[in-house]
Amino acid sequence: MNSGNNIGLKIITLTVLWDEGSYEIETFANEYRSLMTLIFDRIGPEDFGECLGMGKCGTCLVEIIQNHTLTDFGRNECNTLNKHGISDPGMRLACQLLIDEHCNGMIVRLL
Ligand code: FES
Repeated sequence: MNSGNNIGLKIITLTVLWDEGSYEIETFANEYRSLMTLIFDRIGPEDFGECLGMGKCGTCLVEIIQNHTLTDFGRNECNTLNKHGISDPGMRLACQLLIDEHCNGMIVRLL
């Protein structure tokens, strides 16, 4: 949560589309461990992030609509996406995506 002690930190703005709504979220690098924890905290969709970021449940699946540079796929992420038959590189596990300045302007849709 933004505590007001972030003076001097570069604000990162991203948009999350979910349940016919659009949520513009401001954060900064290292405020959250991952995109999953940010979405869980700020929006709180039910049944989202069930394995708490282990990359194994697939409940944090998002579609990347617009982004700049994302981190590479991790081993658990590849295995989980394969298990669910997903090969589209635009589909990612939010728990495996770090929030940094490259996420500024990113648009994701919760699936
Ligand atoms: S929280 Fe389970 S795969 Fe992301």
